[in-house]
Amino acid sequence: MDDLRIRDVTEADLPSALVIRTRSFGPLGPGGQAWWDRVAKEVIPGRMLAVVDEHDTVLATGRARPYEQVWGGRHLRMGGIAGVYTEPSARGQGVATLLMRGLVERMAQLGDVVSCLFPTAPDLYRSVGYEVGGVHTRYSYAAHDVRAARSRSGGLRPRPAVPGDAELICSLIRGHQERDALSGPMLPTVETWRQHLEDEELINYVLDDGAGRRGFVSYSLAEEVLTVEELVAESAEATAALWAVVGSGSSAAPTVRSYLDPRNPGRLVFGGLPDVDVREHGWMLRVIDLPAAMAARGFSAHVTASAQIMLDDPEVPANTATWAISVAAGAGRAWKLSTRPGARPAPVDSAAPGGGASAASGMGRGPVRLGPRGMAALWCGWTMSRLRLAGLATGGDPAADTALDAIFSCTPFMTEYF
Ligand SMILES: CC(C)(COP(=O)(O)OP(=O)(O)OC[C@H]1O[C@@H](n2cnc3c(N)ncnc32)[C@H](O)[C@@H]1OP(=O)(O)O)[C@@H](O)C(=O)NCCC(=O)NCCS
Repeated sequence: MDDLRIRDVTEADLPSALVIRTRSFGPLGPGGQAWWDRVAKEVIPGRMLAVVDEHDTVLATGRARPYEQVWGGRHLRMGGIAGVYTEPSARGQGVATLLMRGLVERMAQLGDVVSCLFPTAPDLYRSVGYEVGGVHTRYSYAAHDVRAARSRSGGLRPRPAVPGDAELICSLIRGHQERDALSGPMLPTVETWRQHLEDEELINYVLDDGAGRRGFVSYSLAEEVLTVEELVAESAEATAALWAVVGSGSSAAPTVRSYLDPRNPGRLVFGGLPDVDVREHGWMLRVIDLPAAMAARGFSAHVTASAQIMLDDPEVPANTATWAISVAAGAGRAWKLSTRPGARPAPVDSAAPGGGASAASGMGRGPVRLGPRGMAALWCGWTMSRLRLAGLATGGDPAADTALDAIFSCTPFMTEYF
């Protein structure tokens, strides 16, 4: 273990990295090599790290992909952790843990303020400060129920999308994420959409009637299932028209699936409820740079609240401090009150209704005490009472809990798997 070190992956390391990937997940499937080459270009240099032994043999690699993610309707830089694997003969001695520490440090240097990942080994990521953040959900509907939406479409007829629509589609996605104050979805690039629009396996339609009834849908059809990848609409008629074009395939494909917002408005329009085949992938999040993340995130303009937290973050020393967290007029702020771990600043006001310290809830005087996992869960809208029951928060008082719950209230979801 002592001879292990972390370094950047170079192009020369890619064949060894691919061997470890194959030993971890099996061979790349059809089209896999093109994907591998594209992702390598995106992350080298700087966003792909390796753990090597004393002979410079690569034992593990991992990537932090450069993404944008919406929180409260505003876009933040998010490092998307993926491709974490350890050579099988080197497993079980802390190699991946070392790699993850290196990736967290690198993301902080690069200015990513939060990081997300889809875990196969949650405890590995918990050990470096990630916690369960939100869901990526697949719902299935009877296609004839989706088709029935056409009665509300006002006669709108979407047209097939062309590669030149990539910018329109991206601006529709951005507008939807901001307007609806979403938390969790990622913002795709125009280039990504250009590629989607050239992908012959995707079926894409756009609505742009010049009367504000804009939108688009992207879906695929395979094995008698219509799978909606993305759908954005700017009016009730556009919502119905776009879903109806998907549902129009019901005679040949009886099922429509979607990976959209679990509360997407289509669900208020369809003739039926989703069937029981609901699948959910949990994803995890870590706050990488607390003050920058607070300043970048959007908050409800109707919330005015503040509380003190004492954060002890072993992987990101700059986060370790007692912080005053506040939100007013839709803007958030975190500023340092003290950097001494364990220091006790002025106690927060505990004169809340029904307040008072309670040993059972772990409350006491002084700020709420959190580690990075507690901070991550709080960021993702887990309430303080739940954090306390999971052992992820102590200290503080009822007034601080109420304030933190109001500040971070959200139900985050992702629509994309990476
Ligand atoms: C998961 C993986 C990266 C772990 O690598 P590693 O170098 O053995 O990890 P570490 O020794 O640092 O393990 C740290 C912790 O991770 C968790 N962990 C490791 N392997 C795990 C496994 N197979 N299942 C569940 N948890 C696991 C454990 O909590 C472990 O702590 P412990 O050893 O005290 O129980 C490795 O097993 C691997 O490459 N698996 C196949 C690919 C994969 O699943 N990658 C993760 C993608 S999200």
